[in-house]
Amino acid sequence: MGYVNVETEGAVAVLTIDRPKALNALNSEVLDDLNAAIDGLDLDTVRCLVITGAGDKSFVAGADIGEMSTLSKAEGEAFGKKGNDLFRKIETLPIPTIAAVNGFALGGGNELSMSCDIRLAAENAVFGQPETGLGITPGFGGTQRLARLIGPGYAKQLVYSARNIKADEALRVGLVNAVYPQEELLPAAKKLAATIAGNAPIAVRACKKAINEGLEQNMDDAIVTEEKLFGSCFETEDQRAGMGNFLKKKDDPTKVRHVAFQNK
Ligand code: CAA
Repeated sequence: MGYVNVETEGAVAVLTIDRPKALNALNSEVLDDLNAAIDGLDLDTVRCLVITGAGDKSFVAGADIGEMSTLSKAEGEAFGKKGNDLFRKIETLPIPTIAAVNGFALGGGNELSMSCDIRLAAENAVFGQPETGLGITPGFGGTQRLARLIGPGYAKQLVYSARNIKADEALRVGLVNAVYPQEELLPAAKKLAATIAGNAPIAVRACKKAINEGLEQNMDDAIVTEEKLFGSCFETEDQRAGMGNFLKKKDDPTKVRHVAFQNK
C-alpha cells in the first residue's frame, strides 16, 4: 500500500506510516491507506497491532497543512470527519493497539497516538497540539482524547498555548507509558505486543471492551458491563485451558506456564 506498510510477525502486526519526506503528515491519501490497512488486518490471526512512523525523526507531524490550507468550512468539517471516523475505528478495534512514537507526534500525530490503547515513546519524541497557532482547533479528536487522558487542566493548557512537550514531560503527565532510546523503541513495542498476544485473546478483547465502554458509563452501569464480559469468557476453550493449566501447575510446581490459547 502506497503510504502504509504492514508487516506481520506471528500474531503481531506492525503498521508503518511511510511518507518521510513530509514527516509522515496525514493527507487524504495517507488516511485512505491507513483505513485500508486497518480493514485488511486478519483479526482471526492478529492479536495486537503496533502503529509507528517511517524514519527516525517523526511518528506523524500532523494533518497535511498544505492540503488543509485551501479548504472551505464544509470541506474542513468533512476532512475532520474523515480523520475522526478512522481514529474511532482504531480506538474501537477489537484487538489492543500500541503507538510506537518515534519522533514528532503533533496535531493529527498526537491524535493518532491517543486513539491507540498504549503509547510508548522514543527519547526524541515531541508531542503537542499546535493547531491554535495555525488558526484551527485540533480536528481528529485532540480536544476530547487529550482531556480524557491527562485531565482537562493540563490538556487545556497545552491546546490553548500550542506548546509542544518532550518525551520526559509526556511521561510525567501520563500521556505515554514509557520512554526508550530510539533504537530500543520498536523492539520494546513488539515485545509488549507479543506478551499481550500470548494471553487469552477472548479475554484480552473483553478487557479492552470493558475498559473503553466502562469509561463512558457511570459506575453502576460500568460494573454491569464488566460482569457481562467476565461471564462471556466462561465455557470458552481459553478459559478451560488457562484455569486448567493453573490447577495442573499446583500439582506439579515444576510445570512451565505455557498455554497456547486458541481464540475460541
Ligand atoms: N503538513 C504538511 N507538511 C508537513 C507537515 C504537515 N503537518 N509537517 C512537516 N511537513 C513537511 C514540511 O513542509 C517539509 O516539507 P518540504 O521539505 O517539502 O519543505 C518537511 O515536512 C520537513 O519539515 P521541516 O523542514 O519543517 O522539518 P523541521 O525539522 O524543520 O521541523 C516540525 C519539523 C517541527 C515537525 C515542523 O515540520 C512542523 O512544525 N510541522 C507542522 C506540525 C504541525 O503544526 N502539525 C499540526 C498540523 S494541524 C492538524 O494536525 C490538525 C488536526 O488536528 C487534524
